[in-house]
Amino acid sequence: MKARGERIAVMTAYDVMFSRLLSEAGVDMILVGDSLGQVVMGLPSTIPVTMDHMVHHASAVRRGAPDAFVVLDMPFLSYQVSPEEALRNAGRALQEAGVDAVKLEGASRPVLDAVARIVEAGIPVMGHVGFTPQSVHALGGYRVQGRGNEAADRLLHEARALEEAGCFSIVLELVPAPLAERVSGELRIPTIGIGAGPGCDGQVLVVYDALGLNAGFRPRFLKRFADLEGEARRGIEAYLGEVRAGTYPGADHSFEDDR
Ligand code: KIV
Repeated sequence: MKARGERIAVMTAYDVMFSRLLSEAGVDMILVGDSLGQVVMGLPSTIPVTMDHMVHHASAVRRGAPDAFVVLDMPFLSYQVSPEEALRNAGRALQEAGVDAVKLEGASRPVLDAVARIVEAGIPVMGHVGFTPQSVHALGGYRVQGRGNEAADRLLHEARALEEAGCFSIVLELVPAPLAERVSGELRIPTIGIGAGPGCDGQVLVVYDALGLNAGFRPRFLKRFADLEGEARRGIEAYLGEVRAGTYPGADHSFEDDR
């Protein structure tokens, strides 16, 4: 798609209903993000998310979208300890959840070694640089990365190292738009941006954020493409009202006695 100049549209999903919707709409790739820690489990960050959580949700996503290209986001400490442990966990993603690929955050030496080991075993790996949520404490909070010449050069170097280690694509998160465009131009593999401007080869958004189910979350990069929270509230209130008024269920929603 990058070679043809076609933009790659990616969204996250965590369950069977949304993965089916995304797949039927023709999404190019579904990411089972460890953002499920916050948006599904109500955790304060992605750090407490485990491989078991990821496998549980990714298998549901796979059942909803049997033909989609699905990527499982490897959670904190599932790939940093050793390349062997990283490979075992990536193997679980394919064997137990049935996904097509995995994603790892960062480009430190241990992460590059893990990427190379997983790729060598025949498992496609997606990289992720810029703001990497599993390192939120080391990065000093949720902030744009790669500002200034030195930080920009470092980010470009990290992206190149991930490409060399064998990644098939790289997420660029919270990166100034000109830098993301430069990185995208220099790499052969596609970049998928989130908060990284229009110069990336594709874009990814968390499905609940994009569809307006997470009204309190308002970063600058986010556009709401629907108001599911408003619709859901209206539906819930209508249901509560009809149950309390005794108008639901009526004859239309009740069974006849067939004797
Ligand atoms: O966990 C996630 O959803 C992600 C995307 C936002 C890229 O990593």
